[in-house]
Amino acid sequence: MENVYSWWQQGVVYQIYPRSFMDSNGDGVGDLSGIRQRLDYLQWLGVDALWLSPIYPSPMADFGYDIANYVDIEPVFGSLQDFDALLHDVHQRHMKMILDFVPNHTSDEHAWFVASRASRESEKRDWYIWRDPAADGGPPNNWTSFFGGSAWEFDAASGQYYLHMFDVKQPDLNWRNPLVRQAMYDVMRFWLDRGVDGFRVDVIWMMIKDTQFRDNPERPDWKPGDPPYARQEGIYTENQPEVHDVIREMRSLVDSYGEKVFIGEIYLPLPQLMEYYGEMLDEVHLPFNFQFVQLANWHARDIRASVDAYETILPEGAWPNWVLGNHDRSRIATRIGRAQSRVAQMLLLTLRGTPTCYYGDELGMEDVAVPPELMHDPQGKDNPIHSRDPERSPMQWNADSGAGFCADGVTPWLPLSEDYRHFNVEREQQEERSYLTLVQNLLTLRRQIPALHVGSYASIDVASEECFVYVREHAGKRYVVALNCSNADQALSLPFKEGTIMLSASLERTGPIALEDFVLPANDGYLIEIAD
Ligand code: NOJ
Repeated sequence: MENVYSWWQQGVVYQIYPRSFMDSNGDGVGDLSGIRQRLDYLQWLGVDALWLSPIYPSPMADFGYDIANYVDIEPVFGSLQDFDALLHDVHQRHMKMILDFVPNHTSDEHAWFVASRASRESEKRDWYIWRDPAADGGPPNNWTSFFGGSAWEFDAASGQYYLHMFDVKQPDLNWRNPLVRQAMYDVMRFWLDRGVDGFRVDVIWMMIKDTQFRDNPERPDWKPGDPPYARQEGIYTENQPEVHDVIREMRSLVDSYGEKVFIGEIYLPLPQLMEYYGEMLDEVHLPFNFQFVQLANWHARDIRASVDAYETILPEGAWPNWVLGNHDRSRIATRIGRAQSRVAQMLLLTLRGTPTCYYGDELGMEDVAVPPELMHDPQGKDNPIHSRDPERSPMQWNADSGAGFCADGVTPWLPLSEDYRHFNVEREQQEERSYLTLVQNLLTLRRQIPALHVGSYASIDVASEECFVYVREHAGKRYVVALNCSNADQALSLPFKEGTIMLSASLERTGPIALEDFVLPANDGYLIEIAD
């Protein structure tokens, strides 16, 4: 049969936070050569595409999401030559590379902003969003930054405010200006010409702002201590209708390079999220689906409800995707506990749609407490509990003093986890029932079994409230995934007679099973092939 699915539909994406993956040159910060040294591991693990968080020159106010030059490599990470060598090796291993593209804002040290700030008459003035002060001399409106405080910064020299939806060192570009669009499309071409396989686009739904600069409403339920980004309803700063025109332009550019992937970071409720596929499926291929990251309760009923709601609302032809964690949210093993997070891995890797794995989650890595004096993240500046440093700790490769992330005697940029001697790649590769063995087995089965990577999905009703059960089917082959989302054993009775357990989340059981009546152990899940 002709293969009608593209690589990004059948494959699995692995997110690398480059600062934290592998330090090859002894400065305590990960780099491109380090990633290159670890490609054997990624290939062994069985992921298909690597998404790198930003690697461009940056003053690191927001650790690379503040870009000072879009068409070069940050020296801490290496050089363009290192990049080309990495890309070459990734491709040689038949993997793909996806770059993070950050179009909403630049660094205040980008030459465009330096010119824009220089005077009101600058030809680059309108490349950013400048406004006169309000009548009282204060900010032009009430918009707040995602990192806290006003989103406006006063520039005394020119007497105007500029907009920064994130850090003060991240001025927002004016995407209504056609010259900005052209310049940024040139950036995309630069990397596509070099051979990258697609982009993950940062805050894509925020690129266009209200032309009248109206005040955003406060969220009625927001209270001091809540994350600053949750303070307002971004009705005039997010999801503006015109953003879809920009996305279509970007997508057609990407499409002109062949089979590439275009992923959008979008935090919106499902109905609005769906609009980002585009009416003609001509916007992003994968609007990130963050339902699992945002789920208030990790309960079978809620998990099923979110999967079913998503499957039901997906437009015809739109491809699903799932995310368990990223560099902005607490790690899954911390959110729901390491034991239950093995079940979550089985869920992620057996659902319909492209999964994105966050580096280290495959080891069961947890958030690492970072003492205030070692914190870096601007989101934690007003309240350390909102810092994202804990989920960005160095990858745990082995039990050596630098966890194999950095050489002995080098201080990593963020502290290592205290348990790295136990939870690390080298050790877990050798343990028959380790977390890593589970994830590697899941990735192998997902690749081998067409029902898992391209099959249909249907959930089924079961008596136990604590279990989520669904069927994946393709070309007459059926598989049941039964997940016990609780820490107590659950009795199940499924509408099938017999099957064969291919894999259990605990890695304790394989082989025949009678499905009409069985017990699914606490914190376990079974992937079962149904007998005809
Ligand atoms: C979303 C990124 O994932 C996050 O890390 C960053 O701080 C903001 N966008 C601003 O670029």
